[in-house]
Amino acid sequence: MIKINNHNGITYTKIAAKFFNYRLNVYIYIDDQILIDTGPSRFAKALNDFFKTHTIKKAILTHCHEDHSGNAPLLEKTGIPIYTHPTVISFCRKKARLPAYRRFFWGKRLNFNPLPLSGNVEGDNKTLEVLELPGHSSDHVAFYNAKNGYVFTGDLFVSPKTKMIMPEESISETINSLQTLLQRDFQTIYCAHAGVVEKGREMMQKKLEHLKQLQGEVIKLHRQGFDIQAINKRIFPQKAPISLISRNEWCSENIIKSIIKDLNR
Ligand SMILES: [Fe+2]
Repeated sequence: MIKINNHNGITYTKIAAKFFNYRLNVYIYIDDQILIDTGPSRFAKALNDFFKTHTIKKAILTHCHEDHSGNAPLLEKTGIPIYTHPTVISFCRKKARLPAYRRFFWGKRLNFNPLPLSGNVEGDNKTLEVLELPGHSSDHVAFYNAKNGYVFTGDLFVSPKTKMIMPEESISETINSLQTLLQRDFQTIYCAHAGVVEKGREMMQKKLEHLKQLQGEVIKLHRQGFDIQAINKRIFPQKAPISLISRNEWCSENIIKSIIKDLNR
Protein backbone atom coordinates (compact mmCIF):
# COMPACT_ATOMS: atom_id res chain seq x y z
CA MET A 1 0.00 0.00 0.00
CA ILE A 2 1.53 3.33 -1.00
CA LYS A 3 1.39 6.37 1.23
CA ILE A 4 -0.46 9.41 -0.07
CA ASN A 5 0.67 12.87 1.04
CA ASN A 6 -0.55 16.41 0.63
CA HIS A 7 1.42 19.64 0.41
CA ASN A 8 -0.49 22.92 0.03
CA GLY A 9 -3.31 21.17 -1.84
CA ILE A 10 -1.00 19.10 -4.06
CA THR A 11 -1.43 15.35 -3.63
CA TYR A 12 1.56 13.14 -4.15
CA THR A 13 3.00 9.71 -3.62
CA LYS A 14 6.48 8.21 -3.72
CA ILE A 15 7.89 4.92 -4.90
CA ALA A 16 11.46 3.74 -4.28
CA ALA A 17 13.36 1.81 -6.95
CA LYS A 18 16.26 -0.29 -5.66
CA PHE A 19 18.99 -1.83 -7.77
CA PHE A 20 21.77 -3.57 -5.79
CA ASN A 21 22.67 -0.88 -3.22
CA TYR A 22 21.46 1.92 -5.46
CA ARG A 23 18.15 3.56 -4.57
CA LEU A 24 16.18 6.26 -6.36
CA ASN A 25 12.85 7.73 -5.31
CA VAL A 26 10.21 8.82 -7.80
CA TYR A 27 7.50 11.32 -6.83
CA ILE A 28 4.22 11.62 -8.72
CA TYR A 29 1.98 14.64 -8.17
CA ILE A 30 -1.65 15.54 -8.74
CA ASP A 31 -2.52 19.24 -8.81
CA ASP A 32 -6.08 20.39 -9.54
CA GLN A 33 -6.89 16.95 -11.06
CA ILE A 34 -3.84 17.14 -13.35
CA LEU A 35 -1.31 14.33 -13.01
CA ILE A 36 2.30 15.48 -13.38
CA ASP A 37 4.33 12.54 -14.75
CA THR A 38 3.08 8.98 -14.59
CA GLY A 39 5.93 7.11 -12.87
CA PRO A 40 7.69 3.97 -14.14
CA SER A 41 5.77 0.90 -15.32
CA ARG A 42 7.66 -1.38 -12.92
CA PHE A 43 5.46 0.17 -10.21
CA ALA A 44 2.25 0.15 -12.25
CA LYS A 45 0.35 -1.98 -9.74
CA ALA A 46 1.04 0.24 -6.73
CA LEU A 47 0.62 3.45 -8.73
CA ASN A 48 -2.62 2.27 -10.27
CA ASP A 49 -4.17 2.34 -6.78
CA PHE A 50 -3.08 5.97 -6.53
CA PHE A 51 -4.49 6.75 -9.99
CA LYS A 52 -7.81 4.98 -9.37
CA THR A 53 -8.48 6.65 -6.03
CA HIS A 54 -8.09 10.17 -7.46
CA THR A 55 -9.84 12.07 -10.20
CA ILE A 56 -7.37 12.65 -13.02
CA LYS A 57 -8.60 14.69 -15.98
CA LYS A 58 -5.29 14.80 -17.83
CA ALA A 59 -1.65 13.79 -17.44
CA ILE A 60 1.25 16.04 -18.41
CA LEU A 61 4.84 14.89 -18.82
CA THR A 62 7.92 16.91 -17.87
CA HIS A 63 9.79 14.71 -20.39
CA CYS A 64 9.39 11.27 -21.84
CA HIS A 65 12.07 9.24 -20.00
CA GLU A 66 10.56 5.91 -18.92
CA ASP A 67 10.46 6.75 -15.20
CA HIS A 68 8.15 9.67 -16.09
CA SER A 69 6.13 8.17 -18.94
CA GLY A 70 6.08 4.43 -18.15
CA ASN A 71 2.44 4.38 -17.02
CA ALA A 72 1.19 6.70 -19.77
CA PRO A 73 -0.09 3.75 -21.92
CA LEU A 74 -2.04 2.40 -18.93
CA LEU A 75 -3.63 5.78 -18.18
CA GLU A 76 -4.39 6.39 -21.84
CA LYS A 77 -6.36 3.12 -21.95
CA THR A 78 -8.63 4.51 -19.22
CA GLY A 79 -9.37 7.56 -21.40
CA ILE A 80 -7.04 10.05 -19.72
CA PRO A 81 -5.34 12.28 -22.31
CA ILE A 82 -1.55 12.49 -22.02
CA TYR A 83 0.31 15.63 -23.04
CA THR A 84 4.00 15.88 -23.84
CA HIS A 85 6.48 18.05 -25.72
CA PRO A 86 5.48 18.15 -29.43
CA THR A 87 8.95 17.03 -30.61
CA VAL A 88 8.70 13.58 -28.97
CA ILE A 89 5.19 12.56 -30.01
CA SER A 90 6.39 10.19 -32.74
CA PHE A 91 9.00 8.76 -30.33
CA CYS A 92 6.22 8.00 -27.81
CA ARG A 93 4.12 6.27 -30.49
CA LYS A 94 6.73 3.49 -30.54
CA LYS A 95 7.74 1.22 -27.68
CA ALA A 96 10.97 2.58 -26.16
CA ARG A 97 14.12 0.58 -26.81
CA LEU A 98 15.86 0.67 -23.45
CA PRO A 99 19.17 -0.76 -22.23
CA ALA A 100 18.67 -3.83 -19.98
CA TYR A 101 19.56 -2.06 -16.73
CA ARG A 102 16.92 0.65 -17.34
CA ARG A 103 14.31 -1.97 -18.27
CA PHE A 104 15.09 -3.76 -15.04
CA PHE A 105 15.20 -0.58 -12.92
CA TRP A 106 12.10 1.16 -14.31
CA GLY A 107 10.27 -1.40 -16.44
CA LYS A 108 9.19 -1.13 -20.08
CA ARG A 109 7.79 1.95 -21.72
CA LEU A 110 5.17 0.76 -24.19
CA ASN A 111 3.80 2.89 -27.01
CA PHE A 112 1.16 5.55 -26.41
CA ASN A 113 -0.30 8.37 -28.40
CA PRO A 114 0.17 11.70 -26.61
CA LEU A 115 -1.14 15.14 -27.47
CA PRO A 116 1.20 18.13 -27.83
CA LEU A 117 1.71 20.49 -24.90
CA SER A 118 1.15 24.07 -25.97
CA GLY A 119 0.78 27.32 -24.04
CA ASN A 120 -0.68 26.87 -20.59
CA VAL A 121 -2.19 23.79 -18.99
CA GLU A 122 -5.58 24.70 -17.58
CA GLY A 123 -7.14 22.91 -14.64
CA ASP A 124 -10.55 23.76 -13.18
CA ASN A 125 -9.01 26.21 -10.71
CA LYS A 126 -5.37 26.53 -11.56
CA THR A 127 -3.15 27.38 -14.52
CA LEU A 128 0.24 25.81 -15.08
CA GLU A 129 2.55 27.58 -17.50
CA VAL A 130 4.70 25.31 -19.64
CA LEU A 131 8.35 26.41 -19.41
CA GLU A 132 10.77 24.96 -21.95
CA LEU A 133 13.81 24.02 -19.88
CA PRO A 134 16.02 21.63 -21.88
CA GLY A 135 19.37 20.22 -20.78
CA HIS A 136 18.47 16.99 -19.01
CA SER A 137 16.71 16.09 -22.27
CA SER A 138 15.73 18.12 -25.33
CA ASP A 139 11.99 17.74 -24.53
CA HIS A 140 12.26 18.76 -20.88
CA VAL A 141 9.66 21.23 -19.60
CA ALA A 142 8.59 22.46 -16.18
CA PHE A 143 5.09 23.44 -15.07
CA TYR A 144 4.94 26.79 -13.30
CA ASN A 145 2.17 28.19 -11.18
CA ALA A 146 2.80 31.94 -11.09
CA LYS A 147 -0.12 32.74 -8.79
CA ASN A 148 1.13 30.59 -5.94
CA GLY A 149 4.86 30.58 -6.81
CA TYR A 150 5.70 26.92 -7.27
CA VAL A 151 7.07 24.74 -10.06
CA PHE A 152 6.99 21.06 -11.03
CA THR A 153 10.58 20.71 -12.15
CA GLY A 154 10.80 17.11 -13.44
CA ASP A 155 14.52 16.24 -13.56
CA LEU A 156 15.91 19.77 -13.73
CA PHE A 157 16.94 19.74 -10.07
CA VAL A 158 17.26 16.18 -8.62
CA SER A 159 20.21 17.25 -6.44
CA PRO A 160 22.26 20.44 -5.94
CA LYS A 161 25.47 18.71 -7.06
CA THR A 162 25.49 16.88 -10.39
CA LYS A 163 27.89 13.93 -10.31
CA MET A 164 26.92 12.08 -13.48
CA ILE A 165 24.75 12.54 -16.55
CA MET A 166 23.64 10.59 -19.61
CA PRO A 167 25.36 11.22 -22.99
CA GLU A 168 22.50 13.21 -24.50
CA GLU A 169 22.39 15.71 -21.62
CA SER A 170 23.87 19.18 -21.95
CA ILE A 171 25.42 21.04 -19.00
CA SER A 172 25.35 24.42 -20.77
CA GLU A 173 21.65 24.00 -21.65
CA THR A 174 20.91 23.02 -18.04
CA ILE A 175 22.74 26.18 -16.87
CA ASN A 176 20.62 28.28 -19.29
CA SER A 177 17.44 26.55 -18.10
CA LEU A 178 18.28 27.18 -14.43
CA GLN A 179 18.90 30.85 -15.24
CA THR A 180 15.60 31.05 -17.15
CA LEU A 181 13.68 29.48 -14.28
CA LEU A 182 15.34 31.69 -11.66
CA GLN A 183 13.95 34.75 -13.47
CA ARG A 184 10.50 33.59 -12.32
CA ASP A 185 9.03 34.22 -8.90
CA PHE A 186 8.82 30.90 -7.01
CA GLN A 187 9.82 29.27 -3.76
CA THR A 188 8.72 25.63 -3.62
CA ILE A 189 9.74 23.11 -6.24
CA TYR A 190 8.14 19.70 -6.75
CA CYS A 191 10.99 17.53 -7.99
CA ALA A 192 10.44 14.09 -9.54
CA HIS A 193 13.27 12.52 -7.50
CA ALA A 194 13.90 14.80 -4.50
CA GLY A 195 10.23 15.39 -3.66
CA VAL A 196 8.89 18.62 -2.18
CA VAL A 197 11.69 21.16 -1.75
CA GLU A 198 10.37 24.18 0.13
CA LYS A 199 13.61 26.10 -0.27
CA GLY A 200 13.44 25.36 -3.98
CA ARG A 201 14.70 28.72 -5.21
CA GLU A 202 17.73 28.56 -2.92
CA MET A 203 18.51 24.98 -3.98
CA MET A 204 18.16 25.82 -7.70
CA GLN A 205 20.54 28.75 -7.14
CA LYS A 206 23.00 26.36 -5.45
CA LYS A 207 22.76 23.96 -8.38
CA LEU A 208 23.38 26.79 -10.85
CA GLU A 209 26.46 27.99 -8.93
CA HIS A 210 27.77 24.41 -8.70
CA LEU A 211 27.37 23.77 -12.43
CA LYS A 212 28.98 27.09 -13.37
CA GLN A 213 31.92 26.36 -11.10
CA LEU A 214 32.23 22.85 -12.54
CA GLN A 215 32.05 24.21 -16.09
CA GLY A 216 34.79 26.76 -15.32
CA GLU A 217 37.05 24.08 -13.81
CA VAL A 218 36.62 21.75 -16.81
CA ILE A 219 37.29 24.54 -19.32
CA LYS A 220 40.42 25.61 -17.39
CA LEU A 221 41.85 22.05 -17.37
CA HIS A 222 40.90 21.54 -21.03
CA ARG A 223 42.77 24.72 -22.00
CA GLN A 224 45.77 23.51 -19.99
CA GLY A 225 45.85 20.49 -22.31
CA PHE A 226 44.32 17.77 -20.12
CA ASP A 227 42.24 15.20 -22.00
CA ILE A 228 38.71 14.11 -21.05
CA GLN A 229 39.83 11.09 -18.99
CA ALA A 230 42.45 13.10 -17.08
CA ILE A 231 39.96 15.90 -16.29
CA ASN A 232 37.41 13.34 -15.14
CA LYS A 233 39.93 11.65 -12.84
CA ARG A 234 40.91 14.96 -11.25
CA ILE A 235 37.36 16.20 -10.66
CA PHE A 236 35.62 12.87 -10.04
CA PRO A 237 38.26 10.46 -8.65
CA GLN A 238 35.66 7.86 -7.60
CA LYS A 239 33.68 5.89 -10.18
CA ALA A 240 30.07 5.41 -9.08
CA PRO A 241 28.79 1.77 -9.10
CA ILE A 242 25.84 2.83 -11.29
CA SER A 243 28.37 3.83 -13.99
CA LEU A 244 29.59 0.24 -14.15
CA ILE A 245 26.05 -1.17 -14.08
CA SER A 246 24.92 1.22 -16.84
CA ARG A 247 28.07 0.55 -18.90
CA ASN A 248 28.90 4.24 -18.64
CA GLU A 249 25.57 5.44 -20.02
CA TRP A 250 25.35 7.28 -16.73
CA CYS A 251 28.76 8.60 -15.68
CA SER A 252 30.80 11.64 -14.67
CA GLU A 253 32.83 11.49 -17.89
CA ASN A 254 29.68 12.57 -19.77
CA ILE A 255 29.75 15.85 -17.79
CA ILE A 256 33.28 16.61 -19.03
CA LYS A 257 32.39 15.57 -22.60
CA SER A 258 29.27 17.77 -22.60
CA ILE A 259 31.14 20.85 -21.35
CA ILE A 260 33.94 20.46 -23.92
CA LYS A 261 31.47 19.72 -26.75
CA ASP A 262 29.45 22.87 -25.95
CA LEU A 263 32.69 24.88 -25.82
CA ASN A 264 33.57 23.82 -29.37
CA ARG A 265 30.12 24.54 -30.80
FE1 LIG B 1 14.88 11.94 -16.77
